Amino acid sequence: MSERDSAGVDRYLADTLLGDDPALAAALAASDDAGLPPIAVSPLQGRLLDLLVRALGARRVLEIGTLGGYSAICLARGLADGGRLVTLELEPHHAAVARENLERAGLGDRVEVRVGPAAESLRALAHEGAGPFDFVFIDADKSGYPEYFELALGLVRVGAVIVADNVVRDGEVANDASTDEAVRGVRRFLELVGRDARVEATAIQTVGVKGYDGFSVAVVVA
Ligand code: SAH
Ligand code: DHB
Ligand code: MG
Repeated sequence: MSERDSAGVDRYLADTLLGDDPALAAALAASDDAGLPPIAVSPLQGRLLDLLVRALGARRVLEIGTLGGYSAICLARGLADGGRLVTLELEPHHAAVARENLERAGLGDRVEVRVGPAAESLRALAHEGAGPFDFVFIDADKSGYPEYFELALGLVRVGAVIVADNVVRDGEVANDASTDEAVRGVRRFLELVGRDARVEATAIQTVGVKGYDGFSVAVVVA
């Protein structure tokens, strides 16, 4: 099967495994209407986030990069009873769209959308004694990933899982001569993760409706 079929396979898998999802469809439509870019995780990736949170029995989840709240809906759905999601977003307009989408999905009471630069919000969370978090999803500006990883590590428990989106970007991640700030940020992030004894990590390349990309997954071991 040729690589160009991967979006079709993604749609087949989503049709077969996910079923209709009016809440997520409404969130995407509202995000589009509000002029947000179409860069949310795919339906299959969103379900993976939901299942990871559920499998962990997570009650405290942190997201860095909210956009219109598509992945936040997935993460919040996976929360154990009484669980909470804190999701960090720079753009007030994105945050407002996300809050509406989360309300409409019936999840508003489980989610706090915090506006501001993620690094500042992460420091504020540490000062407030928030957490420890059981699960973290990193998906904001790629050049910030190294700092978000470092700050997130101060907010998690041993056994927590840290997933990061967009760590492959059409394979450019393996190009050590890349001048793209996003690629350089992701490379610095992966190198930091790889040598940090507090985590064990892997990464999975993905294809589908979002093209050729990947997730990294780290478990906090110390
Ligand atoms: N997780 C979302 C997609 C996030 S897109 C989903 O899958 O549905 C990346 C988001 O990160 C954008 O909304 C962008 O505004 C936000 N962002 C960019 N720089 C940021 C920063 N410094 N702090 C917090 N959020 C940031
Ligand atoms: C972009 C950002 C993302 O988080 C993503 O999943 C896809 C694309 C971007 O900034 O182009
Ligand atoms: Mg992403």
